[in-house]
Amino acid sequence: MLEPQPTRSEAAARPELTREMLEMVFDHVENGIYLVDGQGVTLAVNRTYEEMSGFTNVQLVGRRLDEMVGPDNLFSGSASLLVLQRKGPVTATYSTSTGRKLLVKGRPIFGDWGEIRYVINTIWDLTVVQYSQKIDADTARSQMLSEEDIITCSEKMMSVVDLALRVAQTDSTLLLSGESGVGKSLLAKLVHRSSERRAKPLMQINCGAIPESLIESELFGYEPGAFTGADRRGKPGLFEMAQGGTVFLDEISELPLHLQSKLLGVIQDRSFMKIGGREPMTVDVRIIAATNRELMDLVRQGRFREDLFYRLNVVPIKLPPLRERRDDIPLLVRYFADKFNRRHRCYKQLSDELVQRLQSLPWQGNIRELENLVERLIVTTAEEIITPADAQLEPQEPELDPDATLGEMMARQERTIILSAWKKHRTTRRIAAALGISQASAARKLKRALESDIGAENQS
Ligand SMILES: Nc1ncnc2c1ncn2[C@@H]1O[C@H](COP(=O)(O)OP(=O)(O)OP(=O)(O)O)[C@@H](O)[C@H]1O
Ligand SMILES: [Mg+2]
Repeated sequence: MLEPQPTRSEAAARPELTREMLEMVFDHVENGIYLVDGQGVTLAVNRTYEEMSGFTNVQLVGRRLDEMVGPDNLFSGSASLLVLQRKGPVTATYSTSTGRKLLVKGRPIFGDWGEIRYVINTIWDLTVVQYSQKIDADTARSQMLSEEDIITCSEKMMSVVDLALRVAQTDSTLLLSGESGVGKSLLAKLVHRSSERRAKPLMQINCGAIPESLIESELFGYEPGAFTGADRRGKPGLFEMAQGGTVFLDEISELPLHLQSKLLGVIQDRSFMKIGGREPMTVDVRIIAATNRELMDLVRQGRFREDLFYRLNVVPIKLPPLRERRDDIPLLVRYFADKFNRRHRCYKQLSDELVQRLQSLPWQGNIRELENLVERLIVTTAEEIITPADAQLEPQEPELDPDATLGEMMARQERTIILSAWKKHRTTRRIAAALGISQASAARKLKRALESDIGAENQS
């Protein structure tokens, strides 16, 4: 359909976008802008970027990014270089040498022949003012979160990051879910850093890692003389220490039922009783919870309070497992290889064939597993180029036993699988979920495997 054409007088009245206006917008938008050409040479940065980064135009323009990235160099990494390698958009967070944390979204602009002409980076400042309050020894586990970068180019993950950034600006409670190692903790930090609360503390606790008897005092603290054996001076809890900031409750599914109701109280009234306290204490905190289990299943089993579930699930954010965003794998491999090469002062690369092979693996342990593998390969491989053989990814040939039937050999394989699942998951319920079998059959198979394991040991 044809657009109605403006009449001559309307066209004349329409103000023109002048160079002056464009420059004004360039320098005064709230985001930093960093413009790079197709060879990775810096073309321009705006004033907001200069303020965020502490670098000036003069220091950056005309210089190649690969010369400015590295340990003890201006940048810890470069989204533009990742965009140029991947030939697609990338989201990344970086620390500057001035201790700032920046979120960068890099976009390629293509020329007529499909070549990248420019990379436009839009930058957000996520800097947290360091929380310096002394944390006493037994709160060591609920420490400040350390800084790590987020790297992704997958559509799914970028929309997760976008959603997280949008809700970060509100005080909504967030529930992050996803398998172990997908980046929930990392995302929680990003939300805190990009929120108005960034100058206040981010306190985290792993509800699954702390003995049940200690969780209540960790979370809520106690008054002087609250119980025998307590510190005489009393102790602030996590909620109190996070005042004005964010509390990150990791593995929320492991919170005992009686504390689930106390937490519900905090969410509803923003107040709670310290152990041995007489007056309720009021807190202003944003709550982020994370889980790698289906909370709804636990609700059905009566192991998680339904009302708490709905209170937490105000904004559910599900992080996709790595196998559902395989295009992130080459990018992450390069990023981790770079990171560990610097850390271990070496220059090794993973062969294209190896990266391809890595892209087809299931990655049950997600990014943590990939990160660990890349570090192990960098540290243990003698060669400069690491191949699938170095990574021992060659499919294991099953050993043929001339004295055994197919059924016997398969039973042996099954035993190996069950035992390694047991090592990893520790409960029959989790084994059942991981292997896609019923819990009853997981229990039966495990019992058999363990018995024959002991039998085998006794024989040798
Ligand atoms: N997009 C990413 N880019 C770079 N590193 C990542 C990314 N996602 C995760 N990582 C790294 O992978 C590791 C695991 O991430 P994280 O601890 O956030 O996972 P998680 O979902 O909290 O796992 P768990 O359920 O076991 O606590 C960390 O070292 C983290 O820095
Ligand atoms: Mg975590």
